[in-house]
Amino acid sequence: MTLTEPSRPATVSVEDDWWKSAVVYQIYPRSFADSNGDGIGDLRGITGKLDYLAHLGVDAVWLSPIYPSPHDDNGYDISDYTGIDPAFGTLEDFDELLAGLHARGMRLVMDLVVNHTSDEHPWFVESRSSLDNPKRDWYWWRRTPNDWESWFSGPAWELDETTGEYYLHLFSRKQPDLNWENPEVREAVYAMMRWWLDRGVDGFRMDVINLISKDPALPDGGTEHYVNGPRMHEYLQEMHREVLAGRDRHILTVGEMPGVTIDEARLFTDPARRELDMVFQFEHVGLDHGTGKFDPRPLRLRDLKESLGRWQAGLAGTGWNSLYWNNHDQPRIVSRFGDDGAYRERSAMMLATVLHLHRGTPYVYQGEELGMTNAPLLTIDDFRDIESLNYHAASVAGGALTADVVATMRAMSRDNARTPMQWDAGPGAGFTTAVPWLPVNPNHDVVNAVSQVDDPASVLSYYRRLIELRHSEPIIVHGDFTMLLPDDDRVYAFTRRLGSDALLVLGNFTAEEVTVTLPDVTVGEVLISTTDSPTFGVLRPWEAVVYRLS
Ligand code: GLC
Ligand code: CA
Repeated sequence: MTLTEPSRPATVSVEDDWWKSAVVYQIYPRSFADSNGDGIGDLRGITGKLDYLAHLGVDAVWLSPIYPSPHDDNGYDISDYTGIDPAFGTLEDFDELLAGLHARGMRLVMDLVVNHTSDEHPWFVESRSSLDNPKRDWYWWRRTPNDWESWFSGPAWELDETTGEYYLHLFSRKQPDLNWENPEVREAVYAMMRWWLDRGVDGFRMDVINLISKDPALPDGGTEHYVNGPRMHEYLQEMHREVLAGRDRHILTVGEMPGVTIDEARLFTDPARRELDMVFQFEHVGLDHGTGKFDPRPLRLRDLKESLGRWQAGLAGTGWNSLYWNNHDQPRIVSRFGDDGAYRERSAMMLATVLHLHRGTPYVYQGEELGMTNAPLLTIDDFRDIESLNYHAASVAGGALTADVVATMRAMSRDNARTPMQWDAGPGAGFTTAVPWLPVNPNHDVVNAVSQVDDPASVLSYYRRLIELRHSEPIIVHGDFTMLLPDDDRVYAFTRRLGSDALLVLGNFTAEEVTVTLPDVTVGEVLISTTDSPTFGVLRPWEAVVYRLS
């Protein structure tokens, strides 16, 4: 392995909290751009689109996993932490991508998946080989399993014939959980992180990082024994000491944390504690879940305001929020909280306005900036995601009919987020010249980048303006946040204040015209709006507007 001279962003400053005024763009490499016509997106495909990202104005790219993997969970099952999967390219391709980003003033955030490895990782291959293998204790082995369930359906334990013991896998059976109690495991992870930082990367998005500390007794019961477990803070502080401290530039760290509470998030993101810069919390994307994610119900707007407002208040003094509607695990926001029919563009812009005007670091998931929608997902053959496929298999085994299961999975399946990026109206949506690994959404004839890039009224141009605003208006980055109209189920409203400057943000979450009454405000200039010449006090269907208060 040869280490190249780390390349650094050329045009961005090294100020400590650069990520506070940043917008991060998430790329799901498999579905972004295919450079070699095999139907799978790859690194050179991404490198070919860097001018698009620079034009959009984002500050950093978070890359979902590109490491060697059997792809049981599309790369979230890693078999080699310091390589590149041949489907995505080579380390040279990676260095070229990194240099290309840095040359354009953008940073690169890697996905760090260390709650588990692939079962094909050499560590696990060794671990499973015998009871006294030195790496036996790198994973969780038990003669008798407990009652924990996998997040991908079924038990969280798999019997391994070689030694007659069971291993723990909170996700698929090809994703055995690492035993963080073992200091050698932690050392190996930190060494790997340093390796990537030495190569020049600028941060880590840490996959399900709040699951790494389990109660070592592994009691029956489930999540309370491993979500935000006993040694979580200790591990993150150790990681900070061993990997991040003393670097000459500030690395962005964001921890994906299902089930995290505000009080815990404040601890995780308190700069004085040296743990993480921010976390991804899940409350707002669980508000439309019923008994589970595949039992969706309509969102009540007041619940969304109550939740996001509480997070804004909770991390106002200490800590920092991340802001997102979408990622590779969530259905498309315009289909979910917006209107992907007649008001697709308007509602996409409204949702973007509301999110980007909150305090925190916004994340844009590929295609969100085009107003991409959920996929048709008509039959079980349209699904690829292991979570959906396992759920279907388990439901059918329990007596359900495939057609019924598909109907329940359609709105929430992760495959909705994973259909290829829609670059143009051509047969492969400009994503590929081959048959794509997951079909392109048929609406790419209308919804695509080429048709939007030069259109000032497009969703894409609107995202550009929002990103620009965050860079030019310190109040958007640093201002206080106050939620208004908490009981209104139609209008999302809040103010931001910084010194004598104040902004009012209004978003209509309905297809009706709504009259808003806000006593004691005098509005000045319009900073941005989804419709030309908005009228204060009246919101047209799905309209959003940001006023400066005078
Ligand atoms: C995270 C990832 C998801 C993956 C899971 C297991 O939630 O975002 O895609 O399936 O962790 O790694
Ligand atoms: Ca390819």
